[in-house]
Amino acid sequence: MPVFYKPVPTSEHDDEESQNLTKSRSARIKTTLFYFVATIAVMYVAYLATRSIIRSVPKHGMHGRPGCHHRNLTTLPSHHILPSGDKIPSVALGVWQAGKGEVGAAVQTALKTGYRHIDGAWIYGNEEEVGKAISASGVPRDQLWLTSKLWNNFHAPEDIEPALDETLTRLNTEYLDLYLIHWPIAFKKGSNNVLDKELTANPYPTWQKLEELVDKGKIRNIGISNFNIARIKNLTANPLKHKPAVNQVELNYFNPQPELLKWSKENGLLLEAYSPLGSTKQVKEALSVPEVKEIAKKLDITPAQALISWHVQRGTIVLPKSVTPSRVQENFQVVTLPDDLFDKLEKAATSHPPQRVVNPSKNWGLDFDVFDENWPL
Ligand SMILES: NC(=O)c1ccc[n+]([C@@H]2O[C@H](COP(=O)([O-])OP(=O)(O)OC[C@H]3O[C@@H](n4cnc5c(N)ncnc54)[C@H](OP(=O)(O)O)[C@@H]3O)[C@@H](O)[C@H]2O)c1
Repeated sequence: MPVFYKPVPTSEHDDEESQNLTKSRSARIKTTLFYFVATIAVMYVAYLATRSIIRSVPKHGMHGRPGCHHRNLTTLPSHHILPSGDKIPSVALGVWQAGKGEVGAAVQTALKTGYRHIDGAWIYGNEEEVGKAISASGVPRDQLWLTSKLWNNFHAPEDIEPALDETLTRLNTEYLDLYLIHWPIAFKKGSNNVLDKELTANPYPTWQKLEELVDKGKIRNIGISNFNIARIKNLTANPLKHKPAVNQVELNYFNPQPELLKWSKENGLLLEAYSPLGSTKQVKEALSVPEVKEIAKKLDITPAQALISWHVQRGTIVLPKSVTPSRVQENFQVVTLPDDLFDKLEKAATSHPPQRVVNPSKNWGLDFDVFDENWPL
């Protein structure tokens, strides 16, 4: 600490002069101190700002796509090109179990973050709020990718267009980018779990109606969901005018389906990974997998980012759901994993017995498993 000399007064004049001197010295000290503290504060703020910028850029780059608000530094695909020529963005916001009163805000956060792909469905019961959030966002329709799904009790050809129209009205849009047959299970008209054996065994009439709606301009691409290889072959054995553009299936650490992935790549069918974090039931366990944590630590990213990146690197579309703003933002950051870390996670995921998170067969009272490759009806 500096020591300041205090003059001893020798006369009245000296006393006054010394008082003035003391005053001006103390003013100078105050000014110096003020500048000192201000400089430290400015440097600290600059340090915090630089640190937050560095932290927001993962070491191996971020994902970017047209309309995104951040740089494209990753080698992973920002989108895939479908047989129609349309570009489907690699990362979507999933909105299953995103409740009323929260889904709209999640969609708004996602669109502000740079997402341009929303994965919804008629059965999620939240299309109206999703539609309102999209309209309020001001993002032009042609920059958005909207997916919805045909529910099981609308598979009869005459029921498809009214169901689609309801979805279009709720989403406040004239067309869908992608419409999927939600499950390869048809329920009888108006019922909620009475199996329509005929339409389940032969989905071609359903598909033909969807093709008609593509030609009518209400849907740009059609696809399937929860179809195994046997069921895909059963459908594509027909003389299709439009082939399925995607198959949306459960893919996560617990159920990575390497055979289906390999077969789909060989047959030019893009997979979309649903429940990519293990869904609500298993997300905690998925984020705690040692290989996932190791990747997160080494790349200075979060475990969710490690898993989402792994999906994109496997060559699939990924559909993480969140209604938590910070997670919605976090989940959009995709990073290229170094080969050794990618291989290690792939090996860990495919080395244990597969375990599905989503399988409604029992709930629907089916006397077979919807995923059985022999699909005995
Ligand atoms: N075609 C089909 O039959 C089918 C079936 C299932 C799902 N899907 C689609 O796939 C989407 C995703 O699947 P999903 O909803 O089952 O599961 P998911 O995305 O694997 O997991 C969602 C759960 O993870 C949490 N979460 C999200 N990001 C997180 C993060 N960064 N850190 C920690 N926790 C996080 C979410 O919590 P919060 O929301 O509370 O943040 C939520 O509990 C669905 O929304 C739907 O669009 C389709």
